[in-house]
Amino acid sequence: PSRFPQTHFAPSSQQFPSEFLWGTATASYQVEGAWNVDGRGVSIWDTFSHKPGQIPNNDNGDIADDEFHRYKSDIAMLRELGVKAYRFSVSWPRVMPNGTGAVNQKGLDYYKRLVAALHEAGIEPYCTLYHWDLPQVLQDKGGWQNRDTAEHLAAYAAVTSRAMADAGVHRFMTVNELRTFTENGYKTGTHAPGLKLDRKAMAQLNHYAVLGHGLSLAAVRANVPHDALVGLADNPNAATPVINDAEHIEAARIGFREENAQYLTAIMEGRYTDLYLRKLGADAPHFTDAEMKAIGAPVDFVGLNIYQPTYVTPDAASGYKVIPQGPTFPRMLSPWLTIGPECLYWAPTFTAQIWGVKSIYITENGASAEDRLDASGQVMDVDRVMYIRNYLSQLQRAIADGAPVRGYFVWSLMDNYEWNDGYSKRFGLVYVDFATQKRIPKLSARFYRSVVKENRVI
Ligand code: BG6
Repeated sequence: PSRFPQTHFAPSSQQFPSEFLWGTATASYQVEGAWNVDGRGVSIWDTFSHKPGQIPNNDNGDIADDEFHRYKSDIAMLRELGVKAYRFSVSWPRVMPNGTGAVNQKGLDYYKRLVAALHEAGIEPYCTLYHWDLPQVLQDKGGWQNRDTAEHLAAYAAVTSRAMADAGVHRFMTVNELRTFTENGYKTGTHAPGLKLDRKAMAQLNHYAVLGHGLSLAAVRANVPHDALVGLADNPNAATPVINDAEHIEAARIGFREENAQYLTAIMEGRYTDLYLRKLGADAPHFTDAEMKAIGAPVDFVGLNIYQPTYVTPDAASGYKVIPQGPTFPRMLSPWLTIGPECLYWAPTFTAQIWGVKSIYITENGASAEDRLDASGQVMDVDRVMYIRNYLSQLQRAIADGAPVRGYFVWSLMDNYEWNDGYSKRFGLVYVDFATQKRIPKLSARFYRSVVKENRVI
């Protein structure tokens, strides 16, 4: 019996819909390792990370989480968490070592084993076809600067989606985060292939990237059953009102559309906005009507990767203005990861309001933290718990207000190779000791298991 007087304490009513899909996400290069096993070809990330001095500590994904060999025990961890879905990506060079043509059956076989094990565990696979590991052979021919890459992606997507559909996969995403692999890879150069192109070249390259999505969408549809769902996982700048009055909300709505004009907006509308083309002037991309039609073909769902807010205010000239986030703005460990939970309210809300999207998944959300093993060998990542809890509260509010969000995937199941940060940033619910490959569920794993079990913010 409690030592405290009984009070009537109503449990939180922050319930999610009964069919809500809870999951976790990973990506091939970040977790698989086995970079030269069973005929896998070389990707731009192998080349980039192997360049001395490129990544902190000269980290690379050669071994990463060794998921290629440990997927069975990692799936057992998913069962422990109680999640119903696992988002993974297929490595293009594992399936097509030369980017085009010959298929490496052994590569496809790995994903068939993975999918079979997921099904056996009662976990629904969500398959991303392109999470940035472009075959090096294609980069040598210009990579995303070359229109052919969009066609090659579609050909690879056709083969892979057919094999995955045969294995029972019903959910597909063409590409992951258009802005990241284009801008980080080719504009700032912090990601592979590490180039710094000018505005005109970037505008054309961005067009080929969304075209890659559009051509792949059609290719996947032609190779999977009619009831399979095909979408993408994009990371729109999450324009968020600072103040929740009508004027600021309208500014954020305009901002959400314009900030993403060359990516999600082009895909949702099959055209570039007037403002986008006007701003680019002579640097605007060349495109055809047929290309825009492919880019704008309807998707079955929109996946949103949402981490940080882009706060905006009204502006007389362009309708909205982005507010810079100064050094005292709250952040997680990654400098770019500013904290603003209500972006997880507004991003799905605007996606539904502006384009009438009927089915949305949060395909990534999560946080980097300075995780340390305590004296008892545990990781008490209260900061990550707080981050996820606050964001989920806003997501629940969005759903309660009518946003059609069907599921949520934490980035990430476990610590992994975080691109230009190597292993110096941890995002996992499960801690990984990379020297021994030991997995230690963090406090956030326990928290997430409770959320999944009770289907509410807890
Ligand atoms: C997203 C990506 O950008 O966020 C993931 O889709 C990535 O692949 C995650 O790992 C965290 O970003 P970063 O740059 O800190 O690794």
